[in-house]
Amino acid sequence: MEIVAEGLHEHYDPTLYGTLSAAWPEGFLVAADEVDRPIGFLLGVNQTPGEGRVLMFAVGRTARRRGVGTMLMETFLERCRRRGLRRATLEVRVSNATAIRLYARFRFSVVDLLRGYYSDGENGYQMARDIGEGVERPLRQR
Ligand SMILES: CC(C)(COP(=O)(O)OP(=O)(O)OC[C@H]1O[C@@H](n2cnc3c(N)ncnc32)[C@H](O)[C@@H]1OP(=O)(O)O)[C@@H](O)C(=O)NCCC(=O)NCCS
Repeated sequence: MEIVAEGLHEHYDPTLYGTLSAAWPEGFLVAADEVDRPIGFLLGVNQTPGEGRVLMFAVGRTARRRGVGTMLMETFLERCRRRGLRRATLEVRVSNATAIRLYARFRFSVVDLLRGYYSDGENGYQMARDIGEGVERPLRQR
């Protein structure tokens, strides 16, 4: 919840996480440090047949830029593949260049512009990609 407050500026009822992940617990990934403290997470759901959707994704500020987000996304896509899902989707603020770069490295592309999607009125992009047969690694950075 601290990571959600710090990274996503949201406060949700604690029961929400269990409710959202009940149908597919393996879609809720938590990265931990060497003493088992959570440092980042990705909450993915499978509410639409064949589709995995990233609902929340954040890494604590002090743990960023060390590959934790990349590891979470790689693992999430692998779990989508193992579940037989064909497509992965997510939404992101148009201003969130860091996250958009990460998603582009994982071959997500913009499929829709969501006008006024966020509560402060900012537009969002919907991004999506197909889930292939093999385990796919992120593209190298230029
Ligand atoms: C988006 C987010 C989850 C990425 O998490 P992260 O753990 O920092 O991700 P990574 O470390 O895998 O990659 C981030 C950057 O660090 C770089 N990096 C990764 N490992 C590195 C290392 N060992 N040394 C130097 N840089 C490194 C990556 O190349 C990437 O660079 P770029 O921003 O120039 O493209 C994180 O920035 C975050 O929580 N942001 C706030 C919440 C948010 O925006 N969530 C997404 C909502 S849609």
